[in-house]
Amino acid sequence: MTPKSLDLAKAGKHSGESRPSWRNQLDKRIDAWMTAPGFYRWAISNPITRWITRRRASQLFNLMAGFVHSQVLLSCVRLSLLEKLREGPQTLHQLAQACEISAPALQRLLHAAVSLRLLELRGPNLYGLGALGAPVAADVGLRLMIEHNAVLFDDMRDTVALLRDEIQPHMQAYWPYMNGDKPPTWETDKVARYSELMSTSQRFVIEELLASYDFSRHRCVMDVGGGQGGWITALAQQHTDLQLMLFDLPPVAALANARFQANGLGGRASALGGSFISDPLPKGADLVTLVRVAHDHPDATVKALLKSIYQALPAGGMLLLAEPMAEASGAHSMGDAYFHFYLLAMGSGRLRTPQELKSLISEAGFSRVVDVANPMPLHTRLLLAQKN
Ligand SMILES: C[S@@+](CC[C@H](N)C(=O)[O-])C[C@H]1O[C@@H](n2cnc3c(N)ncnc32)[C@H](O)[C@@H]1O
Repeated sequence: MTPKSLDLAKAGKHSGESRPSWRNQLDKRIDAWMTAPGFYRWAISNPITRWITRRRASQLFNLMAGFVHSQVLLSCVRLSLLEKLREGPQTLHQLAQACEISAPALQRLLHAAVSLRLLELRGPNLYGLGALGAPVAADVGLRLMIEHNAVLFDDMRDTVALLRDEIQPHMQAYWPYMNGDKPPTWETDKVARYSELMSTSQRFVIEELLASYDFSRHRCVMDVGGGQGGWITALAQQHTDLQLMLFDLPPVAALANARFQANGLGGRASALGGSFISDPLPKGADLVTLVRVAHDHPDATVKALLKSIYQALPAGGMLLLAEPMAEASGAHSMGDAYFHFYLLAMGSGRLRTPQELKSLISEAGFSRVVDVANPMPLHTRLLLAQKN
């Protein structure tokens, strides 16, 4: 299977096969009505439909302008505007001087940022943080992710060519493990760069995990594909009785061990280097966490990885899987519009529905697979499974 074939039809919902024929007929009439030449004039002149028409026009405009909006956000991040305004409001001229951009030019960016609620006018020509700018100013992980998206946007400059597999996306080079799990040497600068990005962007996922599951039921937790150990460190600090293990590629495991030492966790947390594609997983944990890992890999790899986790667990042991999923309620465009393309550019893996993941987990031998409710499905969704 090439990465281009996401096999959405397998999920059923996108194929349209199960729709009754009356529904198809009705949709056909609605489509014809809504695309008829006089429809717009009718809808905007009718007081009942006017507000729907206005709302849709504005949504469509936002879709068209999406690239401009994301560039406004990226420019605010690159110019450290939001961090500067965290200290207090500033005038146009103060900001122009600090950013080394002429005041008339910078004013365009500031106007755009105010309209997108990244900034807020606090007086004539006085700018402060807006409701959407404040979380970006507060979180370095968000800022790194916004900067990282520039790689994806570069690859999506010609999205049709990307879909046709006619370009070599830069995103593939960003993730060195996309080119094999046992290269002769690891490009350590690239490994450190993606591990840092993952670690700083993991904060929101960690909050979801800690808020949604009782880890005190366990004795030893192993995080597979655990990166440089942000999650395991947070877990160790919250649950001081837990023993902790991490498994990741050798250069990443070395970064995690350094972090555990730096946090005084050397006695309780240890990272082991290896590849879950070609090495067995260490035993000893009664809970395995798999955080933002499965979506990077094709079904065959995920099946083998889940089997390997099953074998590493004792009877009664649990698996907690956390990652963004397709068709998540309240996070539809994040999953289905964003991650499908992110993973396409990355060159491997796919965004799966909870049902698809549950099937893969059951196939690996786990007996019960259930959803774990969490406050913000936008950041991640959670599935829990048990070995009999
Ligand atoms: C997307 S990152 C997620 C990291 C971390 N779990 C998080 O949420 O921030 C995927 C992780 O899987 C690791 N990984 C990829 N292929 C691997 C393999 N074959 N064996 C072990 N780890 C692997 C990567 O090094 C990376 O740390």
